[in-house]
Amino acid sequence: MEFIKLSEAIGVEVRGLNISEPIDAVSGSVLRREWAKNSILLVRGQELTEDEQFAYARIYGKVAARVSPPVEKRSYRADPDNPMQLVTNKLDKRGKPVGSLGDGEMWFHTDKCYVEKPHRASFLYAVEIPLSGGHTKFASLYNGYDRLPFSLRQKLEGRKVLQMYDYTKTEPGDLDQPLENLLHHWQPVFVTNPDTLRKAVYISRLMSIRIEGYSDDESRALIDAVADIVEAPQNIYEHVWKPGDIIVWDNLSCLHARTDWPREQARTLRRVTIEGEALA
Ligand SMILES: [Fe+2]
Repeated sequence: MEFIKLSEAIGVEVRGLNISEPIDAVSGSVLRREWAKNSILLVRGQELTEDEQFAYARIYGKVAARVSPPVEKRSYRADPDNPMQLVTNKLDKRGKPVGSLGDGEMWFHTDKCYVEKPHRASFLYAVEIPLSGGHTKFASLYNGYDRLPFSLRQKLEGRKVLQMYDYTKTEPGDLDQPLENLLHHWQPVFVTNPDTLRKAVYISRLMSIRIEGYSDDESRALIDAVADIVEAPQNIYEHVWKPGDIIVWDNLSCLHARTDWPREQARTLRRVTIEGEALA
């Protein structure tokens, strides 16, 4: 296996790996180490069945069960027993979505930050990709932490952040509704990665809603100030998908976002996640 950096800030590509074949324990531990160190790990040109994707995911941990949205937020019917999620804008014959997260741009966020034990890793496998757009951008939360000005770091030290998902894609969730109706959880602002022992700033513009000890307006100003640092162009790798690409990322050390694409062009990826622990 050969490892090639995808950008200065984040990400590595592995060459010389065929995921559809069994991966021995030594190679598995090398992959896991490179993934933790680089936050995202890409392999191109793979032809994978769902079972092969699950087998690859198990190198990194235990495949996580689906977290169902509250009933009123459900846009399509998914099999709750199948942890494979179809991320697609395709519709069935009656015009109903066949998968989740359909169309359009999505702001930077990290998956399942709003549950007690956020899913540690997410995998996307590209099946069908539009001619232009629909890229996934990744931003390093390690660099975000390292680049926080002292005064901002001081304001956030030891605080918790309320993470909430309101099923919006390009605006923060609505604060004027009962929290009981939404998936939400208070998480530490600064998280120590269990594999690398590096600190990351666990804040995103989309899903971080409130900072402990601050008003709503103060919280939004702090969240935006952090997001401006994390989302700086030099801190980002933008992936232009090709069918057969598979990326696994660490939800504790990076954010991801999606760029827009023409509505009439199909975009389908298969997604699984790995269980995580409560954060410290
Ligand atoms: Fe996501």
